[in-house]
Amino acid sequence: MQQYILALDQGTTSSRAILFDRAGLPVASCQQEYPQHFPQPGWVEHDALDIWHSQLACARAVLRQAGVDGAQVAALGIANQRETTILWDRATGEPVARAIVWQDRRTADFCEQLRAQGQAGEIGRRTGLELDAYFSATKLHWLLEHVPGARARAERGELAFGTVDSWLVYRLCGRHVTDPSNAARTMLFNIHTLRWDAELLGLFDIPPAVLPEVVASSGIVGLAAADWFGAALPIAGIAGDQQAATFGQACQRKGLVKNTYGTGCFMLMHAGETPPVSQHRLLSTVGWTVAGTTDYLLEGSVFMGGATVQWLRDGLGIIKQSQDVEALALSVPDSGGVMLVPAFTGLGAPHWDPYARAGIVGMTRGTTGAHIARAAVEAIAYQSAELLVAMQKDAACAVTEIRADGGAARNDLLMQFQADLLGVPVLRPRVLETTALGAAYLAGLAVGYWDSREDIARQWQVERRFEPAMGEQERTERMARWGRAVAHARSWGQ
Ligand code: G3P
Repeated sequence: MQQYILALDQGTTSSRAILFDRAGLPVASCQQEYPQHFPQPGWVEHDALDIWHSQLACARAVLRQAGVDGAQVAALGIANQRETTILWDRATGEPVARAIVWQDRRTADFCEQLRAQGQAGEIGRRTGLELDAYFSATKLHWLLEHVPGARARAERGELAFGTVDSWLVYRLCGRHVTDPSNAARTMLFNIHTLRWDAELLGLFDIPPAVLPEVVASSGIVGLAAADWFGAALPIAGIAGDQQAATFGQACQRKGLVKNTYGTGCFMLMHAGETPPVSQHRLLSTVGWTVAGTTDYLLEGSVFMGGATVQWLRDGLGIIKQSQDVEALALSVPDSGGVMLVPAFTGLGAPHWDPYARAGIVGMTRGTTGAHIARAAVEAIAYQSAELLVAMQKDAACAVTEIRADGGAARNDLLMQFQADLLGVPVLRPRVLETTALGAAYLAGLAVGYWDSREDIARQWQVERRFEPAMGEQERTERMARWGRAVAHARSWGQ
Protein backbone atom coordinates (compact mmCIF):
# COMPACT_ATOMS: atom_id res chain seq x y z
CA MET A 1 0.00 0.00 0.00
CA GLN A 2 1.49 3.34 -1.03
CA GLN A 3 0.91 5.56 1.93
CA TYR A 4 3.06 8.60 1.36
CA ILE A 5 4.15 11.36 -0.97
CA LEU A 6 7.75 12.52 -0.88
CA ALA A 7 8.24 16.25 -1.41
CA LEU A 8 11.58 17.88 -2.15
CA ASP A 9 11.86 21.57 -1.28
CA GLN A 10 15.11 22.82 -2.73
CA GLY A 11 15.57 26.30 -1.24
CA THR A 12 18.16 29.05 -1.48
CA THR A 13 20.02 28.22 1.72
CA SER A 14 18.99 24.63 2.38
CA SER A 15 17.59 21.51 0.81
CA ARG A 16 14.63 19.90 2.54
CA ALA A 17 12.62 16.74 2.11
CA ILE A 18 9.27 16.04 3.75
CA LEU A 19 7.13 12.93 3.72
CA PHE A 20 3.38 13.65 3.73
CA ASP A 21 0.47 11.38 4.48
CA ARG A 22 -2.99 11.39 2.92
CA ALA A 23 -4.24 13.98 5.42
CA GLY A 24 -1.59 16.36 4.09
CA LEU A 25 0.33 16.19 7.36
CA PRO A 26 4.12 15.91 7.56
CA VAL A 27 5.28 12.53 8.83
CA ALA A 28 9.02 13.18 8.80
CA SER A 29 11.31 15.90 7.54
CA CYS A 30 14.97 16.50 6.94
CA GLN A 31 16.91 19.67 6.15
CA GLN A 32 20.49 20.28 5.13
CA GLU A 33 22.21 23.61 4.59
CA TYR A 34 24.75 23.84 1.80
CA PRO A 35 27.50 26.38 0.99
CA GLN A 36 26.80 29.82 -0.44
CA HIS A 37 29.48 31.51 -2.53
CA PHE A 38 29.89 35.29 -2.75
CA PRO A 39 32.90 35.68 -5.09
CA GLN A 40 32.38 39.44 -5.61
CA PRO A 41 30.08 42.09 -4.11
CA GLY A 42 26.59 41.48 -5.47
CA TRP A 43 27.41 38.00 -6.78
CA VAL A 44 25.76 34.89 -5.30
CA GLU A 45 26.59 31.38 -6.53
CA HIS A 46 25.81 27.77 -5.68
CA ASP A 47 27.62 24.64 -6.69
CA ALA A 48 24.89 22.71 -8.51
CA LEU A 49 26.41 19.45 -7.28
CA ASP A 50 25.98 20.67 -3.67
CA ILE A 51 22.32 21.27 -4.50
CA TRP A 52 21.97 17.77 -5.90
CA HIS A 53 23.91 15.94 -3.17
CA SER A 54 22.24 17.78 -0.28
CA GLN A 55 18.80 17.24 -1.82
CA LEU A 56 19.38 13.56 -2.44
CA ALA A 57 20.82 13.05 1.04
CA CYS A 58 17.75 14.69 2.62
CA ALA A 59 15.32 12.65 0.55
CA ARG A 60 17.00 9.41 1.52
CA ALA A 61 17.36 10.45 5.16
CA VAL A 62 13.69 11.30 5.50
CA LEU A 63 12.68 7.83 4.29
CA ARG A 64 15.17 6.21 6.68
CA GLN A 65 14.00 8.36 9.56
CA ALA A 66 10.35 7.41 8.96
CA GLY A 67 11.21 3.75 8.43
CA VAL A 68 9.55 3.94 5.01
CA ASP A 69 10.90 2.26 1.90
CA GLY A 70 10.55 3.58 -1.62
CA ALA A 71 7.81 1.10 -2.46
CA GLN A 72 5.52 2.78 0.10
CA VAL A 73 5.81 6.14 -1.67
CA ALA A 74 3.19 6.90 -4.31
CA ALA A 75 5.03 9.79 -5.98
CA LEU A 76 7.63 12.47 -5.64
CA GLY A 77 7.05 16.21 -6.04
CA ILE A 78 9.62 18.99 -6.41
CA ALA A 79 9.42 22.63 -5.34
CA ASN A 80 12.49 24.74 -5.87
CA GLN A 81 14.18 28.12 -5.52
CA ARG A 82 13.32 29.80 -8.80
CA GLU A 83 15.33 31.68 -11.44
CA THR A 84 18.68 30.25 -10.27
CA THR A 85 20.47 29.35 -13.48
CA ILE A 86 22.37 26.12 -14.15
CA LEU A 87 24.17 25.09 -17.31
CA TRP A 88 25.43 21.53 -17.60
CA ASP A 89 26.94 19.04 -20.00
CA ARG A 90 24.24 16.73 -21.32
CA ALA A 91 26.66 13.82 -21.76
CA THR A 92 28.29 13.84 -18.33
CA GLY A 93 25.63 15.62 -16.27
CA GLU A 94 28.37 17.88 -14.88
CA PRO A 95 27.72 21.62 -14.45
CA VAL A 96 30.00 23.78 -16.61
CA ALA A 97 30.12 26.57 -13.99
CA ARG A 98 28.64 27.45 -10.64
CA ALA A 99 24.91 28.18 -10.64
CA ILE A 100 24.08 31.90 -10.68
CA VAL A 101 21.58 32.41 -7.88
CA TRP A 102 18.42 34.52 -8.21
CA GLN A 103 19.86 37.06 -5.75
CA ASP A 104 22.91 37.68 -7.95
CA ARG A 105 23.11 41.23 -9.36
CA ARG A 106 25.99 40.87 -11.83
CA THR A 107 23.75 41.45 -14.83
CA ALA A 108 22.15 44.67 -13.53
CA ASP A 109 24.10 46.78 -16.05
CA PHE A 110 23.05 44.52 -18.92
CA CYS A 111 19.44 45.02 -17.83
CA GLU A 112 20.02 48.78 -17.84
CA GLN A 113 21.35 48.60 -21.41
CA LEU A 114 18.25 46.71 -22.51
CA ARG A 115 16.08 49.24 -20.72
CA ALA A 116 17.89 52.08 -22.50
CA GLN A 117 17.11 50.33 -25.80
CA GLY A 118 13.43 50.48 -24.85
CA GLN A 119 13.00 46.71 -24.39
CA ALA A 120 11.38 46.69 -20.92
CA GLY A 121 7.79 47.14 -22.12
CA GLU A 122 7.79 44.34 -24.68
CA ILE A 123 9.61 41.97 -22.31
CA GLY A 124 6.99 42.76 -19.67
CA ARG A 125 4.10 42.13 -22.05
CA ARG A 126 5.45 38.74 -23.10
CA THR A 127 6.74 37.45 -19.76
CA GLY A 128 4.79 39.37 -17.10
CA LEU A 129 8.16 40.25 -15.52
CA GLU A 130 10.10 43.41 -14.70
CA LEU A 131 13.37 43.80 -16.60
CA ASP A 132 15.66 42.91 -13.69
CA ALA A 133 18.76 40.82 -12.98
CA TYR A 134 16.57 38.62 -10.73
CA PHE A 135 15.39 36.45 -13.64
CA SER A 136 17.32 33.74 -15.51
CA ALA A 137 17.68 35.19 -19.04
CA THR A 138 20.52 37.62 -18.34
CA LYS A 139 22.23 35.08 -16.07
CA LEU A 140 22.18 32.44 -18.81
CA HIS A 141 23.44 35.03 -21.29
CA TRP A 142 26.30 35.80 -18.87
CA LEU A 143 27.27 32.12 -18.60
CA LEU A 144 27.23 31.68 -22.38
CA GLU A 145 29.45 34.74 -22.77
CA HIS A 146 31.91 34.02 -19.96
CA VAL A 147 32.37 30.27 -19.65
CA PRO A 148 35.04 29.35 -22.20
CA GLY A 149 33.57 27.44 -25.12
CA ALA A 150 30.06 27.46 -23.67
CA ARG A 151 28.33 29.28 -26.50
CA ALA A 152 29.70 27.02 -29.24
CA ARG A 153 28.90 23.92 -27.21
CA ALA A 154 25.40 25.20 -26.47
CA GLU A 155 24.81 25.81 -30.16
CA ARG A 156 25.94 22.25 -30.95
CA GLY A 157 23.33 20.97 -28.46
CA GLU A 158 25.91 19.68 -25.99
CA LEU A 159 24.77 21.82 -23.04
CA ALA A 160 21.51 21.93 -21.12
CA PHE A 161 20.12 24.96 -19.27
CA GLY A 162 17.70 24.65 -16.44
CA THR A 163 16.40 26.11 -13.23
CA VAL A 164 16.80 23.91 -10.16
CA ASP A 165 13.72 21.79 -10.95
CA SER A 166 15.20 20.83 -14.34
CA TRP A 167 18.54 20.04 -12.78
CA LEU A 168 17.04 17.75 -10.13
CA VAL A 169 14.75 15.95 -12.57
CA TYR A 170 17.69 15.45 -14.95
CA ARG A 171 19.76 13.98 -12.15
CA LEU A 172 16.90 11.81 -10.89
CA CYS A 173 15.64 10.39 -14.16
CA GLY A 174 17.65 11.79 -17.09
CA ARG A 175 14.86 13.88 -18.66
CA HIS A 176 15.40 17.56 -19.45
CA VAL A 177 12.12 19.26 -18.53
CA THR A 178 10.64 22.16 -16.58
CA ASP A 179 7.11 23.22 -15.73
CA PRO A 180 5.36 26.48 -16.71
CA SER A 181 5.69 28.02 -13.22
CA ASN A 182 9.48 27.75 -13.41
CA ALA A 183 9.70 28.55 -17.11
CA ALA A 184 7.73 31.74 -16.41
CA ARG A 185 10.62 33.00 -14.26
CA THR A 186 13.30 32.68 -16.92
CA MET A 187 12.22 35.76 -18.93
CA LEU A 188 12.38 33.54 -22.02
CA PHE A 189 8.88 32.12 -21.73
CA ASN A 190 5.74 33.69 -23.11
CA ILE A 191 3.06 33.44 -20.42
CA HIS A 192 0.25 33.95 -22.96
CA THR A 193 1.21 31.20 -25.41
CA LEU A 194 2.89 29.05 -22.69
CA ARG A 195 5.87 28.46 -25.00
CA TRP A 196 9.47 29.55 -25.21
CA ASP A 197 9.44 32.90 -26.98
CA ALA A 198 11.54 33.07 -30.16
CA GLU A 199 11.79 36.89 -30.00
CA LEU A 200 13.16 36.80 -26.47
CA LEU A 201 15.57 33.99 -27.30
CA GLY A 202 16.85 36.27 -30.06
CA LEU A 203 17.04 39.30 -27.79
CA PHE A 204 19.04 37.46 -25.11
CA ASP A 205 21.00 35.48 -27.71
CA ILE A 206 20.05 32.08 -26.28
CA PRO A 207 20.37 29.00 -28.56
CA PRO A 208 17.04 27.09 -28.40
CA ALA A 209 18.99 23.82 -28.15
CA VAL A 210 19.78 24.51 -24.45
CA LEU A 211 16.14 24.75 -23.35
CA PRO A 212 14.20 22.11 -21.44
CA GLU A 213 10.87 20.74 -22.62
CA VAL A 214 7.94 22.33 -20.78
CA VAL A 215 5.62 19.81 -19.12
CA ALA A 216 2.59 20.18 -16.82
CA SER A 217 3.13 21.01 -13.14
CA SER A 218 1.11 17.94 -12.21
CA GLY A 219 1.84 14.81 -14.26
CA ILE A 220 4.32 11.95 -14.36
CA VAL A 221 7.52 13.06 -16.08
CA GLY A 222 9.63 10.00 -15.39
CA LEU A 223 10.74 7.52 -12.76
CA ALA A 224 13.48 8.41 -10.31
CA ALA A 225 15.98 5.58 -10.69
CA ALA A 226 15.47 2.76 -8.18
CA ASP A 227 19.08 3.20 -7.04
CA TRP A 228 18.18 6.44 -5.31
CA PHE A 229 15.25 5.33 -3.14
CA GLY A 230 15.10 1.54 -3.30
CA ALA A 231 12.16 1.65 -5.74
CA ALA A 232 11.47 3.59 -8.93
CA LEU A 233 9.43 6.62 -7.84
CA PRO A 234 7.22 8.56 -10.26
CA ILE A 235 8.30 12.20 -10.41
CA ALA A 236 4.82 13.66 -10.72
CA GLY A 237 4.83 17.28 -9.51
CA ILE A 238 7.04 20.28 -10.29
CA ALA A 239 6.57 23.92 -9.33
CA GLY A 240 8.58 26.95 -8.33
CA ASP A 241 8.58 27.16 -4.55
CA GLN A 242 6.36 30.26 -4.31
CA GLN A 243 3.76 28.87 -6.67
CA ALA A 244 3.92 25.55 -4.80
CA ALA A 245 3.34 27.37 -1.50
CA THR A 246 0.33 29.15 -3.02
CA PHE A 247 -1.04 25.75 -4.06
CA GLY A 248 -0.23 24.32 -0.62
CA GLN A 249 -2.06 27.24 1.02
CA ALA A 250 -5.14 26.26 -0.99
CA CYS A 251 -5.24 29.69 -2.68
CA GLN A 252 -7.17 28.19 -5.57
CA ARG A 253 -9.73 30.95 -5.91
CA LYS A 254 -9.29 34.40 -7.42
CA GLY A 255 -8.32 36.98 -4.78
CA LEU A 256 -6.85 34.58 -2.17
CA VAL A 257 -3.39 35.70 -1.03
CA LYS A 258 -0.46 34.02 0.69
CA ASN A 259 2.81 35.50 1.91
CA THR A 260 5.86 33.30 2.47
CA TYR A 261 8.47 34.46 4.95
CA GLY A 262 11.51 32.56 3.69
CA THR A 263 14.89 33.86 2.52
CA GLY A 264 12.88 36.60 0.84
CA CYS A 265 9.17 37.39 1.17
CA PHE A 266 6.89 36.44 -1.64
CA MET A 267 3.26 37.56 -1.67
CA LEU A 268 1.12 35.90 -4.32
CA MET A 269 -2.52 36.39 -5.18
CA HIS A 270 -4.59 33.99 -7.26
CA ALA A 271 -5.57 35.91 -10.39
CA GLY A 272 -7.72 33.45 -12.34
CA GLU A 273 -7.10 31.76 -15.67
CA THR A 274 -5.74 34.73 -17.64
CA PRO A 275 -2.49 36.59 -16.95
CA PRO A 276 -3.11 39.68 -14.81
CA VAL A 277 -1.58 43.00 -15.89
CA SER A 278 0.07 44.94 -13.10
CA GLN A 279 0.10 48.74 -13.11
CA HIS A 280 2.09 48.85 -9.87
CA ARG A 281 5.26 46.93 -10.71
CA LEU A 282 4.14 43.53 -9.49
CA LEU A 283 4.80 40.42 -11.55
CA SER A 284 2.31 38.44 -13.54
CA THR A 285 3.30 34.80 -13.36
CA VAL A 286 2.11 31.30 -14.05
CA GLY A 287 0.85 29.51 -10.94
CA TRP A 288 0.62 25.97 -12.24
CA THR A 289 -0.74 23.86 -15.05
CA VAL A 290 -2.94 21.10 -13.69
CA ALA A 291 -5.27 18.87 -15.72
CA GLY A 292 -4.89 21.05 -18.81
CA THR A 293 -5.75 24.30 -17.01
CA THR A 294 -3.27 27.05 -16.22
CA ASP A 295 -3.85 29.38 -13.29
CA TYR A 296 -2.09 32.74 -13.03
CA LEU A 297 -0.86 34.69 -10.04
CA LEU A 298 0.06 38.26 -9.23
CA GLU A 299 3.33 38.34 -7.31
CA GLY A 300 5.25 40.77 -5.16
CA SER A 301 8.82 39.64 -4.51
CA VAL A 302 10.96 41.02 -1.69
CA PHE A 303 14.59 39.86 -1.74
CA MET A 304 15.41 40.01 1.99
CA GLY A 305 12.89 38.51 4.39
CA GLY A 306 14.12 35.90 6.85
CA ALA A 307 17.60 36.50 5.40
CA THR A 308 17.58 39.81 7.29
CA VAL A 309 17.49 37.80 10.52
CA GLN A 310 20.32 35.62 9.20
CA TRP A 311 22.31 38.80 8.72
CA LEU A 312 21.70 39.75 12.37
CA ARG A 313 23.11 36.31 13.22
CA ASP A 314 25.99 35.95 10.75
CA GLY A 315 26.85 39.53 9.79
CA LEU A 316 26.16 41.51 12.95
CA GLY A 317 26.50 38.64 15.44
CA ILE A 318 23.83 39.94 17.86
CA ILE A 319 21.95 36.60 18.01
CA LYS A 320 23.23 33.03 18.04
CA GLN A 321 20.29 31.38 16.30
CA SER A 322 17.63 32.87 14.05
CA GLN A 323 14.82 32.01 16.47
CA ASP A 324 16.52 34.15 19.17
CA VAL A 325 15.47 37.27 17.31
CA GLU A 326 11.95 37.28 18.72
CA ALA A 327 13.08 37.34 22.37
CA LEU A 328 15.69 40.02 21.67
CA ALA A 329 13.20 42.16 19.76
CA LEU A 330 10.62 41.74 22.52
CA SER A 331 13.11 42.89 25.18
CA VAL A 332 12.35 46.49 24.10
CA PRO A 333 8.86 47.98 23.76
CA ASP A 334 9.52 49.25 20.23
CA SER A 335 12.36 49.95 17.81
CA GLY A 336 13.06 53.31 19.47
CA GLY A 337 12.58 55.11 16.16
CA VAL A 338 15.12 52.91 14.35
CA MET A 339 14.32 51.68 10.84
CA LEU A 340 16.36 49.10 8.95
CA VAL A 341 15.93 48.85 5.19
CA PRO A 342 17.41 45.47 4.18
CA ALA A 343 18.38 46.43 0.62
CA PHE A 344 21.49 44.23 0.85
CA THR A 345 20.91 42.93 -2.68
CA GLY A 346 19.00 45.93 -3.98
CA LEU A 347 15.22 46.17 -3.73
CA GLY A 348 12.63 44.02 -5.47
CA ALA A 349 8.93 44.87 -5.81
CA PRO A 350 7.57 47.45 -5.97
CA HIS A 351 10.82 49.49 -6.32
CA TRP A 352 13.00 47.26 -8.53
CA ASP A 353 16.19 49.09 -7.69
CA PRO A 354 19.29 46.87 -8.00
CA TYR A 355 21.55 49.69 -6.84
CA ALA A 356 19.80 50.45 -3.52
CA ARG A 357 21.82 49.44 -0.48
CA ALA A 358 20.82 48.55 3.07
CA GLY A 359 20.74 51.16 5.78
CA ILE A 360 19.80 51.73 9.39
CA VAL A 361 18.37 55.16 10.17
CA GLY A 362 17.06 56.86 13.30
CA MET A 363 19.71 55.64 15.76
CA THR A 364 20.46 57.60 18.93
CA ARG A 365 22.96 57.08 21.78
CA GLY A 366 20.33 54.89 23.42
CA THR A 367 20.03 52.47 20.48
CA THR A 368 20.91 48.87 21.31
CA GLY A 369 21.11 45.58 19.44
CA ALA A 370 17.57 44.90 20.64
CA HIS A 371 16.25 47.97 18.82
CA ILE A 372 18.04 46.89 15.67
CA ALA A 373 16.63 43.37 16.01
CA ARG A 374 13.16 44.82 16.39
CA ALA A 375 13.69 47.08 13.38
CA ALA A 376 14.84 44.05 11.37
CA VAL A 377 11.68 42.10 12.21
CA GLU A 378 9.55 45.13 11.44
CA ALA A 379 11.34 45.64 8.11
CA ILE A 380 10.08 42.26 6.94
CA ALA A 381 6.54 43.39 7.67
CA TYR A 382 6.98 46.87 6.12
CA GLN A 383 8.22 45.40 2.86
CA SER A 384 5.31 42.96 2.74
CA ALA A 385 2.88 45.78 3.49
CA GLU A 386 4.17 47.68 0.44
CA LEU A 387 3.39 44.60 -1.63
CA LEU A 388 -0.16 44.39 -0.38
CA VAL A 389 -0.78 48.07 -1.08
CA ALA A 390 0.35 47.53 -4.70
CA MET A 391 -1.65 44.32 -4.96
CA GLN A 392 -4.88 45.88 -3.71
CA LYS A 393 -4.51 48.66 -6.28
CA ASP A 394 -3.81 46.21 -9.10
CA ALA A 395 -6.58 43.84 -8.19
CA ALA A 396 -9.01 46.69 -7.53
CA CYS A 397 -10.45 44.65 -4.70
CA ALA A 398 -10.03 44.56 -0.96
CA VAL A 399 -8.00 41.66 0.35
CA THR A 400 -9.70 40.33 3.44
CA GLU A 401 -7.01 38.01 4.82
CA ILE A 402 -3.44 36.87 4.21
CA ARG A 403 -2.26 33.29 4.65
CA ALA A 404 1.27 33.23 6.07
CA ASP A 405 3.92 30.51 5.88
CA GLY A 406 7.68 29.96 5.82
CA GLY A 407 10.12 29.75 8.73
CA ALA A 408 9.69 33.31 10.00
CA ALA A 409 5.90 32.88 10.15
CA ARG A 410 6.56 31.12 13.48
CA ASN A 411 7.51 34.51 14.92
CA ASP A 412 4.38 35.80 16.71
CA LEU A 413 5.77 39.31 17.00
CA LEU A 414 6.25 39.49 13.24
CA MET A 415 2.79 38.06 12.52
CA GLN A 416 1.07 40.51 14.84
CA PHE A 417 3.00 43.50 13.50
CA GLN A 418 2.22 42.32 9.98
CA ALA A 419 -1.51 42.21 10.69
CA ASP A 420 -1.26 45.66 12.30
CA LEU A 421 0.50 47.18 9.31
CA LEU A 422 -1.70 45.51 6.72
CA GLY A 423 -4.93 46.21 8.51
CA VAL A 424 -6.16 42.72 7.61
CA PRO A 425 -5.99 39.46 9.57
CA VAL A 426 -2.98 37.21 9.07
CA LEU A 427 -3.81 33.51 9.19
CA ARG A 428 -1.13 31.00 10.10
CA PRO A 429 -2.02 27.47 8.94
CA ARG A 430 -1.47 24.28 10.91
CA VAL A 431 1.02 23.02 8.34
CA LEU A 432 3.64 25.73 7.84
CA GLU A 433 5.57 23.66 5.30
CA THR A 434 3.21 24.71 2.56
CA THR A 435 5.91 24.85 -0.13
CA ALA A 436 6.68 21.15 0.22
CA LEU A 437 2.99 20.44 0.73
CA GLY A 438 2.15 22.16 -2.56
CA ALA A 439 4.69 20.01 -4.39
CA ALA A 440 3.25 16.93 -2.68
CA TYR A 441 -0.29 17.93 -3.71
CA LEU A 442 0.76 18.43 -7.35
CA ALA A 443 2.42 15.00 -7.40
CA GLY A 444 -0.38 13.30 -5.48
CA LEU A 445 -3.07 14.64 -7.81
CA ALA A 446 -1.19 13.26 -10.82
CA VAL A 447 -1.13 9.70 -9.48
CA GLY A 448 -4.62 9.69 -7.96
CA TYR A 449 -3.37 9.79 -4.36
CA TRP A 450 -5.72 12.74 -3.87
CA ASP A 451 -8.85 13.01 -5.96
CA SER A 452 -9.29 16.70 -6.64
CA ARG A 453 -8.25 20.20 -5.78
CA GLU A 454 -11.39 20.53 -3.67
CA ASP A 455 -10.30 17.44 -1.75
CA ILE A 456 -7.00 19.18 -1.04
CA ALA A 457 -8.46 22.59 -0.19
CA ARG A 458 -10.53 20.96 2.55
CA GLN A 459 -7.32 19.92 4.34
CA TRP A 460 -6.21 23.51 4.92
CA GLN A 461 -6.66 24.55 8.57
CA VAL A 462 -5.84 27.66 10.58
CA GLU A 463 -3.57 27.30 13.59
CA ARG A 464 -3.74 30.95 14.67
CA ARG A 465 -5.37 34.12 13.42
CA PHE A 466 -3.65 37.47 14.10
CA GLU A 467 -6.12 40.37 14.12
CA PRO A 468 -4.97 43.91 13.30
CA ALA A 469 -4.79 46.08 16.41
CA MET A 470 -3.22 49.31 15.09
CA GLY A 471 -5.22 52.42 14.32
CA GLU A 472 -5.46 53.74 10.76
CA GLN A 473 -3.59 56.95 11.58
CA GLU A 474 -0.62 55.19 13.16
CA ARG A 475 -0.44 52.77 10.24
CA THR A 476 -0.37 55.62 7.75
CA GLU A 477 2.31 57.50 9.69
CA ARG A 478 4.50 54.44 10.02
CA MET A 479 4.24 53.62 6.32
CA ALA A 480 5.17 57.22 5.49
CA ARG A 481 8.28 56.99 7.70
CA TRP A 482 9.17 53.68 6.05
CA GLY A 483 8.87 55.38 2.67
CA ARG A 484 11.43 57.98 3.79
CA ALA A 485 13.85 55.28 4.98
CA VAL A 486 13.50 53.45 1.64
CA ALA A 487 14.18 56.68 -0.26
CA HIS A 488 17.39 57.02 1.77
CA ALA A 489 18.53 53.45 0.86
CA ARG A 490 17.76 54.13 -2.80
CA SER A 491 19.55 57.45 -2.95
CA TRP A 492 22.64 55.86 -1.35
CA GLY A 493 23.17 53.55 -4.29
CA GLN A 494 22.88 56.25 -6.95
O1 G3P B 1 12.33 33.62 -6.46
C1 G3P B 1 13.18 33.16 -5.47
C2 G3P B 1 12.48 32.20 -4.56
O2 G3P B 1 11.97 31.14 -5.30
C3 G3P B 1 13.39 31.76 -3.44
O3 G3P B 1 12.69 31.10 -2.48
O4 G3P B 1 12.35 29.88 -0.40
O5 G3P B 1 14.56 29.82 -1.47
O6 G3P B 1 13.72 31.90 -0.39
P1 G3P B 1 13.40 30.65 -1.09
